[in-house]
Amino acid sequence: MANDAATATASSSERADALEHEMMQGLETRVPLRSVLFTSGDRDPTGPIQDPLPPGKHVLQGADPRLKPMPAKPTLVDFFERRFGNANNHLLQSAALAKKAGHNEKVILACLLHDIGVTGFIRSDHGYWGAQLIAPYVDEEVSWAIRAHQSLRFFPDESVGYKYPEMYVRLFGEDFEPEAYIKRDYEKARAHKWYMTARLICVNDIYAFEPGVNPSLDDFVDIIGRNFRQPAEGLGWDDTPSSHMWRTIMMPTRAL
Ligand SMILES: [Fe+2]
Ligand SMILES: [Fe+2]
Repeated sequence: MANDAATATASSSERADALEHEMMQGLETRVPLRSVLFTSGDRDPTGPIQDPLPPGKHVLQGADPRLKPMPAKPTLVDFFERRFGNANNHLLQSAALAKKAGHNEKVILACLLHDIGVTGFIRSDHGYWGAQLIAPYVDEEVSWAIRAHQSLRFFPDESVGYKYPEMYVRLFGEDFEPEAYIKRDYEKARAHKWYMTARLICVNDIYAFEPGVNPSLDDFVDIIGRNFRQPAEGLGWDDTPSSHMWRTIMMPTRAL
């Protein structure tokens, strides 16, 4: 299974490389550039990232034609459908569990969005990135909880039946110990008035990897409408502290 996934990833990244090469050498006049972060780790970020721009070519400074086009005024749902990855199913399962358990809409929305850092942006410190992305558009409790789930998920809470997840032993190894900042942020969250909102993200997180369970985003459109302040200009084209992050997700290969 892991090998299959690795093969699929390698061949899709090979396809992307080939396509990029074609764009560099072919008739396209605008070529996409890669951010350091896209390749860091696969390559040493202190070395060259990609081939120099061939003569007569310009860099892509807008939408990437290889990606699904975004509407002029994108909504959160557009980002789910056109930019967020296949782990969306995990988010939908989390939200569906929270809804079934009768939690309020803030908890359901927090579950629905808790991993958009992973599905749409950057894996590392995903709770912090995800919280920052949505902070201008949701109740503070929702973004606070998403930030806090990053640390809480490593610590059990028997009062709600949350044990250290087996999956983490498999993913991180028996001897993994969270970093000092995670422990610090856990202690702070533990004493916070919204602790249980973040804890409920963790509770609904661990059972939300069921094969064959496919909730629809349509079931949550009303909750999004009531709890996510969609900007009239479109996400990314508005003027908030995270608009640039949405623009980057929309146009990840824009040169500058
Ligand atoms: Fe998470
Ligand atoms: Fe999750």
